[in-house]
Amino acid sequence: MIHFAIVGCGHIAKKHAEAIEQIPDAKLTAVCDTVPFHMDYYRDRYNAETYIHFNELLDDPAIDVINICTPSGFHAALAVRAAKAKKHIIVEKPIALSLEDTDQIIRACEENSVKLAVIHPNRFRPAMMELKKIVESGKLGKISHVNATVRWNRNQSYYDQAPWRGTKSLDGGVLMNQAIHNLDLMLWMMGGVQEVFSMSATRLRNIEAEDVCTGLVKFANGALGVIETATTVYPRNFEESLSIFAENGTIKIGGPSAIHIEHWDVKGMNREEVDRFVSQIEKDPYGKPGHQCLIEDMIQAIKEDRQPAVTGTDGKRALELVLAMYKSAETNQPFKLTYEEVPR
Ligand SMILES: NC(=O)c1ccc[n+]([C@@H]2O[C@H](COP(=O)([O-])OP(=O)(O)OC[C@H]3O[C@@H](n4cnc5c(N)ncnc54)[C@H](O)[C@@H]3O)[C@@H](O)[C@H]2O)c1
Repeated sequence: MIHFAIVGCGHIAKKHAEAIEQIPDAKLTAVCDTVPFHMDYYRDRYNAETYIHFNELLDDPAIDVINICTPSGFHAALAVRAAKAKKHIIVEKPIALSLEDTDQIIRACEENSVKLAVIHPNRFRPAMMELKKIVESGKLGKISHVNATVRWNRNQSYYDQAPWRGTKSLDGGVLMNQAIHNLDLMLWMMGGVQEVFSMSATRLRNIEAEDVCTGLVKFANGALGVIETATTVYPRNFEESLSIFAENGTIKIGGPSAIHIEHWDVKGMNREEVDRFVSQIEKDPYGKPGHQCLIEDMIQAIKEDRQPAVTGTDGKRALELVLAMYKSAETNQPFKLTYEEVPR
């Protein structure tokens, strides 16, 4: 049995608790929150131990894994302390809000030999797994360009729910909070980005960070990309999509939350073959919840002493792109990313 503790008992914590409940060799043993009544549900529903002080949670020898679900700006400090207490870590996206903080988390986990997984659950959506397979197969040939779009609605009352939302120091805007999922998918398919040019604005919401951000990217493999992200779209979520245009194929995964295969035309694949897996996916387009997949994977990673499916470095790569886009928008200049990628 692997014992989990959740720190930060707000909206997303429920998904973690529900996922842990579904896994036979996992148990939600404790929760921690600075606001005591936020923990009531978990004490009543799961019989979880409750801790107001993180130090006391860290001293609990029963806990194997800590799931960090606090506002994003607090992830790093909590993760470093958890690693030093020899707890494995599952951290919500974004891994942290700066590269320095991210490096500290990764280093602390390495030095203390604990596993680190970042919650990018959309990688486990059935359509995305099919897309990853075909990209990896090389059947698409050379990729010309991609498009990553998030046209969503987060109204003012969403931002007014809690003081940390939409702030630069604890949250970030549409790119850091919402679109980072789609950027992670884009990077997972395409590999690293070499250069970005971005513009951002705060148009319709009363927040410090951006509510709309657009960008152009050049990947290390030479392909180009167009990014459009917004939480200003009237009146509800309209589209999240990832499109790939390649020598031998055109694919678009779309719908309001990037779960449907809207277009799949790949040289050498016949219509019946495509229709078969498209209709299979349509029966259950979300598939098994991504949070559950990542928590199950953490258990296997601990048992097999291997890296989790989505590592700290993966989390860092998505953050690096967000920060590069912020830098470019701020300076009104293209921004070059420094890491080297092997071109594909
Ligand atoms: N993966 C996803 O799809 C997804 C979806 C939503 C949110 N998130 C991420 O999850 C995190 C939390 O988002 P949310 O919507 O649940 O926020 P929330 O405001 O609903 O909940 C945050 C909780 O953390 C508690 N908290 C604050 N500081 C704390 C501290 N120092 N120690 C312990 N508890 C503390 C608060 O009291 C609150 O209960 C954010 O990083 C967000 O980006 C991820």
